[in-house]
Amino acid sequence: MDKLLIHGGVPLAGEVRISGAKNAALPIMCAALLSSAPLRLANVPHLRDVTTLLNLLGGMGVAVSLDEKLGLELDAGRLHTPLAPYDLVKTMRASILVLGPLLARCGEARVSLPGGCAIGQRPVDQHIKGLQAMGADISVEHGYIIARAKRLRGARICTDLVTVTGTENLMMAACLAEGVTSIENAAREPEVVDLADCLRAMGARIEGAGSDTITIEGVSALAGAGHRIMPDRIETGTFLAAAAATGGSVVLRNTNARILEAVLDKLRESGASIDAQGDTIALAMEGPPRSVNLRTAPYPGFPTDMQAQFMALDCIARGTAVLTETIFENRFMHALELQRLGADIEITGNAAVVKGVPQLDGATVMATDLRASASLVIAGLVARGETLVERIYHLDRGYECIEEKLSQLGARIKRVH
Ligand code: UD1
Repeated sequence: MDKLLIHGGVPLAGEVRISGAKNAALPIMCAALLSSAPLRLANVPHLRDVTTLLNLLGGMGVAVSLDEKLGLELDAGRLHTPLAPYDLVKTMRASILVLGPLLARCGEARVSLPGGCAIGQRPVDQHIKGLQAMGADISVEHGYIIARAKRLRGARICTDLVTVTGTENLMMAACLAEGVTSIENAAREPEVVDLADCLRAMGARIEGAGSDTITIEGVSALAGAGHRIMPDRIETGTFLAAAAATGGSVVLRNTNARILEAVLDKLRESGASIDAQGDTIALAMEGPPRSVNLRTAPYPGFPTDMQAQFMALDCIARGTAVLTETIFENRFMHALELQRLGADIEITGNAAVVKGVPQLDGATVMATDLRASASLVIAGLVARGETLVERIYHLDRGYECIEEKLSQLGARIKRVH
């Protein structure tokens, strides 16, 4: 299994290009299932989760090809098996995103209950409840969700909590339903908006994406389209947090500061000076970081996917920070590993109290989920001596060429087998 060996203590400096967003690419690739004409996608990140989804779609009969500019073309014209098997779904929870499109297009779907990151229970009851409100007949048999509906009907759906993939699944299903669907308490994440933009380009009638009520007027068929995936705000935030923690100065290109406000505010609070222009964000750290408190919340609040990286920053900041996790119940597993590097962290319920220490010391640590891995890499970049991050397959699920990009910024980091 691959590991990352990091020799810490180098402030990051230089320029790096941000990739397309994993959490936009995955639902948008699933949107290809809604049409019999090809969907052409640009800026798709090269990630393990994307490969997993391509395998999943390929198994259903979706033809996958790359054009000369490395654009991805997905053609679901010969979709034959509306099945998402356990072997693939267990490695990636986002596979649940095929459920809504398959049901809407084929009238049936068999999707294994998902696995994914070990960051809490993560049920899919809201996806199921919404599809049932649209007339689907759904049962769970032998670990599979079995869904059937001749044609889905528009419905008023109010989700019990804000769910990102739940909103996306229901929005996609509603595109081919008969009549109007409204999703209330909808997720407002920019990735939901990017998906809605792509669906509209395919001929869907959607209003309100980006607000808490999305209205979809169903149509009988969707066409093919071309779409460019938005920049990855979590990759952007991770590189910025790494630069801040190492006292560095970086310029990130091909990104977007407007979808990252909560994170940029916290970085400024920690002492970073930030200059955002066009698709570029520049960060320069002036002095050692100051502790920052944060509370995760659905967008536009502080993203849970950035909590672990900020914990790493707070570990070596001046002062004491309280980090409160409100989205997932088991998302502090990185704290134990950070403690192995000398961090002072106390967990009580859903809050972590992080007392900044002057220095972390390198050690062997184990990645437990995707963003936890990123926090360990940041800690390793700061720590004195060598840090070996094990189980980085988690990292490869969501960060494109992370060691190449960090090396480009001057980090001493290499992948070892
Ligand atoms: C998405 C993101 C993930 C991010 C998360 C929260 C993708 C592919 N993944 O995950 O990176 O960490 O949003 O911003 O976009 N819940 C239920 N029932 C449901 C659905 C969700 O109880 O049917 C709960 C979850 O357990 C969790 C909360 O709702 O506590 C939010 O989860 P959700 O927004 O659904 O996360 P994902 O869409 O899986």
